[in-house]
Amino acid sequence: MKKIGKVYGVILAGGSGTRMNSPTPKQFLPLGGVPIFIHSVRALLSEPQIEELWIGSNGDWLELAQQQIASFCSSDPRIHICEGGADREGTLLNTLAAIRQHNTVEDDDIVLIHDAVRPFATRRIIRDVIHEMQFCDVCNTVVPVNDTIVQSADGTRITGMPKRSELFAGQSPQGFRINALLDAFGRLDAETRKQLTETTMVCFKSGLPIHIVRGEFFNFKITTPYDLEVAESILDFVDRQKTDL
Ligand code: CTP
Repeated sequence: MKKIGKVYGVILAGGSGTRMNSPTPKQFLPLGGVPIFIHSVRALLSEPQIEELWIGSNGDWLELAQQQIASFCSSDPRIHICEGGADREGTLLNTLAAIRQHNTVEDDDIVLIHDAVRPFATRRIIRDVIHEMQFCDVCNTVVPVNDTIVQSADGTRITGMPKRSELFAGQSPQGFRINALLDAFGRLDAETRKQLTETTMVCFKSGLPIHIVRGEFFNFKITTPYDLEVAESILDFVDRQKTDL
């Protein structure tokens, strides 16, 4: 069993949300009258084990992020904000650098990274990730896939049919031992890093074992206008689930 030191939360809110087709990045759009990323911030803040919460926001939208935090989160002293980066991993690295500027990070310290645009994370998931970090350096939240997944190298014909029972879709929050994650990033050359679309891939490539915990189908990532409509329509349902779980 591994010791868990200080628990940090990170909200990745530095994206531009191109697929949402909105002039304002999607994380700042309202969902049930509250900005999407504020739902995510509140979800992580609901877990008292999280001692500091860092929000990595797109530089051009830092002021709006700050205004929305001030309006919707009163003044929770755990909240900090810093500038994001060019991609999801860039935002994460900038945020971890900010954490390290303000703290001495020990090997036992962990971070829970959460997409700003997954507003429906539950306390159960957050606690399961923190709990699982007693047994690993990296933990991802996943759901089984219900559809049969096919692989196509050229987009016109099937080149592979992986076994559905072994397939899961990755969500967030994702848990990492901060120093182990930074070591894994440090071991990758720039070219390999560019090809990796997911933080856990960085660890996987570095040979770190990655544990998984069960997510929820409703803990989905809002990507398109359709997703935002779906999110509006399930808000009540999810709010009930959050209280129950
Ligand atoms: N993200 C980030 N910094 C970036 C890019 C993405 O913090 N430079 C965050 C987003 O804000 C989001 C999460 O990573 O919370 C997942 O991003 P995704 O929705 O896939 O990307 P976006 O860039 O926001 O959207 P799109 O791909 O449609 O442009």
